[in-house]
Amino acid sequence: MAGKGISRREFGKMVGGAGILAPLGAALGPRGPRDPEASRHGGPEGTPYRDLQGAVQDEAFWRTVREKFLVPSDLALLNAANLCPASKPVLEVLEAETRWVDRDPSLPNRRRVGEGRETTRKLLADFLHATPEEIVITRNTSEGNNIVSSGLDLKAGDEVVVVSDNHPSLLGAWQQKAKRFGFIVRVVEQVNPHPGTDYYVDAFAKAMTARTKVVAFSHVTASVGDLFPAKELCRLARERGALSIVDGAQSFGVLDIDLADMQPDFFTGSAHKWPCGPREVGVLYIRKDALPKLSPSIISLYAGATGASTTFEGLGQRDDAAVMAFGEALKLQNAIGRPAVERRSCALAQALIDGLKKIPGVKVWTDADPTRSAAIISFQPGGLNASTLATTLYEKERIAVMARGGADRGGLRVAPHFYNLQAEVERLVGTVGRYMRMT
Ligand SMILES: Cc1ncc(COP(=O)(O)O)c(C=O)c1O
Repeated sequence: MAGKGISRREFGKMVGGAGILAPLGAALGPRGPRDPEASRHGGPEGTPYRDLQGAVQDEAFWRTVREKFLVPSDLALLNAANLCPASKPVLEVLEAETRWVDRDPSLPNRRRVGEGRETTRKLLADFLHATPEEIVITRNTSEGNNIVSSGLDLKAGDEVVVVSDNHPSLLGAWQQKAKRFGFIVRVVEQVNPHPGTDYYVDAFAKAMTARTKVVAFSHVTASVGDLFPAKELCRLARERGALSIVDGAQSFGVLDIDLADMQPDFFTGSAHKWPCGPREVGVLYIRKDALPKLSPSIISLYAGATGASTTFEGLGQRDDAAVMAFGEALKLQNAIGRPAVERRSCALAQALIDGLKKIPGVKVWTDADPTRSAAIISFQPGGLNASTLATTLYEKERIAVMARGGADRGGLRVAPHFYNLQAEVERLVGTVGRYMRMT
């Protein structure tokens, strides 16, 4: 039974006729339903999606991308929001450079991997539309978020505005430090369904006072995949004299981020999520103007060579082979075309939303509007127990998704990425439909 595929006809029957297939195909066609001009993540307005050297990126093309990963062909890995697989080119660099170091770990021999770190910094700067001086190579998003909350000089009377739906490294971390240093954390509640850009700009504006020093939010939430209006919120913070930190754990490596346009003061991300890089490598962007306002809270050796990295990257002995492999992950996305990666992932998510919505009893939490979501979607499979269903999907159907508990929009979280195929999305929709009909 494991991994048993279904035909398009069977799929159509399972979810109530062929009606679902047309929108699914349309969502994945060359242009897809998303407006490529939509500047929802800070990209320059009017930038068209770039295809690989002008080629139409059809399903055959994406199969070649899929072959760059070790993931077995019968496993529908739809859990990018948790941990992505590193691609074969990344693993090759990781292994080759690790062997280089372990063959001779003496300092002169390691010079090469040290230089490789600076190459990755340059790649990261280009990837994010920043300068190498603004890039710190951290170990993950959590570390980046905490470098910021621990490093700003906040005291009693100061205020920080955060969103309720933040990762602990951006919510609990601020709350813990508020207790210690006496500042106040004000929480803007996340609203379901996503109420839109104007609502959140207004809610932040109301939550901010003359004492607000920092505004902190996730670009895309890990719970239901709500996309926050990053550019608008960063502008609001700037206009009110506050600093902004954008947690990009769920947007970096999937949305075509342009920090020159978004203009946050700090932006964080992890290589092991959407960039499909090695584990325990991440990025912290520190805007040039914000640098003097931040103090390092980890002091050690082996800092980077330029700008912010000379102060904030001295984190002790590093795995420079992994840092080099991070660069390789960015090169793969550049080769495909980053707008194409974004468009593919979002089109798959859109197809999932369309398909799941057609299943009687399924409640999709994520708003399909491309200004309100990216490539994470969340849904409640009717009366089915989400945790049991996730286990069954993995063990019996070879489909990996994530169960999210809790009274607030619990259910299954699905996160497709550029390595997924249309057939995998169809398989998930068809299988959920089949299980729903069994109830
Ligand atoms: C929004 C968000 N921020 C931060 C993190 C932490 O990422 P990491 O574990 O790579 O530090 C996550 C992890 O899922 C996340 O979803």
